[in-house]
Amino acid sequence: MSGAITPANERLSRPLDSIDIPHKKISKICCIGAGYVGGPTCAVIAYRSPDVTVTIVDLNQARIDAWNSDNLPIYEPGLEEVVKAVRGKNLFFTTDVDTSIREADLVFVSVNTPTKKSGVGAGYAADLGWVESATRHIAKVSTSDKIVVEKSTVPCRTAVSMRKILDSNGKPGCKFDILSNPEFLAEGTAIKDLLAPDRVLIGSLDTPAGRSAAASLADVYANWVPRERVITMNLWSSELSKLAANALLAQRISSINALSAICEATGADVDEVSYAVGLDSRIGPKFLKASVGFGGSCFQKDILNLVYLSESLHLPDVAEYWRQVVEMNESQKRRFTQRVISSLFNTLTGKRLAVLGFAFKKDTGDTRESAAITLIKYFRQEQAKIALYDPKVEASQIWYDLAEPGVVDDATAVKKQVTLCESAYEAAKGADAIIICTEWDEFKDTHLDYQKLYDVMNKPAFVFDGRLILNQKKLEKIGFKVECIGRSRLEETFE
Ligand code: UDX
Ligand code: ADP
Repeated sequence: MSGAITPANERLSRPLDSIDIPHKKISKICCIGAGYVGGPTCAVIAYRSPDVTVTIVDLNQARIDAWNSDNLPIYEPGLEEVVKAVRGKNLFFTTDVDTSIREADLVFVSVNTPTKKSGVGAGYAADLGWVESATRHIAKVSTSDKIVVEKSTVPCRTAVSMRKILDSNGKPGCKFDILSNPEFLAEGTAIKDLLAPDRVLIGSLDTPAGRSAAASLADVYANWVPRERVITMNLWSSELSKLAANALLAQRISSINALSAICEATGADVDEVSYAVGLDSRIGPKFLKASVGFGGSCFQKDILNLVYLSESLHLPDVAEYWRQVVEMNESQKRRFTQRVISSLFNTLTGKRLAVLGFAFKKDTGDTRESAAITLIKYFRQEQAKIALYDPKVEASQIWYDLAEPGVVDDATAVKKQVTLCESAYEAAKGADAIIICTEWDEFKDTHLDYQKLYDVMNKPAFVFDGRLILNQKKLEKIGFKVECIGRSRLEETFE
């Protein structure tokens, strides 16, 4: 048996262009929400579909102004080139939401869906307030039929609520078809992911109208994506697939991080274990890099969403299973902190820690759910002094992330313990330890002069590699005490 997954549903096995179903050609698209998802996605649609006019709308005037300027509100390699090539031709940014919806054949809903902060499901469930108000807006202003597409990551069966809102508020004679078309782009590679996606997923109701709407959207993607990569399926499968993809990716990281703890206790090396298991073609090598923990706007949020969904469906074991992926991620940060404390002779009080990296991964200025935020919080609780350097994150963002929301004067307290530095060298001056939190290339020993860092540090000088980017032996030759995630110093303890 090959073990390959083959679609049981015959819709999946049929190439879309053989679906002999009449469908409308899309010539005008409106995208509600000019954020991380809507902006790059619809810019690429316009770039690759010269016959389609794409208008991206947002209530936030400053954001729209930025999209219309030379200083785009989002940094992604290649995004500026794409936007500049089509802006003013078939790509427009405006706050005139009503006109854009009214003129469109198809409307993407790409608004924010943050985790609820209060009420039922607080801390777990997605807040669908923005999806609801965008849907109400579509119903209110539409004077012709629309295909409405969920682009934001939403809980399974959100389409039911959208359907009810549209049906009970739309003008008589206006017909709405709802599709799910989740986005799988990762930050830093968004344009690459959009230009050459592994797959494009379109979920629809299995009715003639639903399949016709799916075929219309598939035609848009077919302008640049090979037909066999555009797959259609039932609406609920599509909604769940987005949560499932992120949950499975995060689960791999938590699995390798759990193994990293065993490595540290046994003398195994987690990088070697990842390499060995990744060569198994059934497992594959990606997303097996042990780290201080995953961050980003999606993984934790989507898993907690899945936990909430499982609990609402009375599946406590399933909820517990997925909750553990997030718990393991938290435990990894606590374990790493404990290792720093015990290595530095069981106290961090008054010691200077040079923290390198604040973004949740390299090549982005985004700090959402970054492991560095939690680690610095723990170091502060141990009364350490932190000298922080990140090549991209804005100072205002760092102060915002480190202050406890709602705690008066916390920002002042943070500033007593944390100093922002202009370089790794400045951070290392007088430090007892360097702590790598983000895997920026410039922190590698091939880029940074670690001898120079060593010379200005307190001795013994420690390096804690939370991202496995350093050559341990090379640094030990300089004189550093090196502690790496998923690697122990067992040989030493044998002596
Ligand atoms: C993720 C998904 O990859 C993307 O498909 C989805 O649409 C949005 O969420 P993103 O959050 O941009 O994308 O970042 P990703 O590259 O997936 O990394 C997430 C986190 O996992 C980062 O903190 C990264 O450092 C960490 N990570 C990743 C590891 O610790 N080890 C790995 O092997 C891979
Ligand atoms: P994501 O990461 O999912 O793209 P963002 O928060 O970056 O989320 O962007 C969502 C955008 O959607 C925000 O700029 C917000 O102003 C916009 N938005 C939310 N609700 C509406 C609405 N009803 N009409 C227009 N824009 C909206």
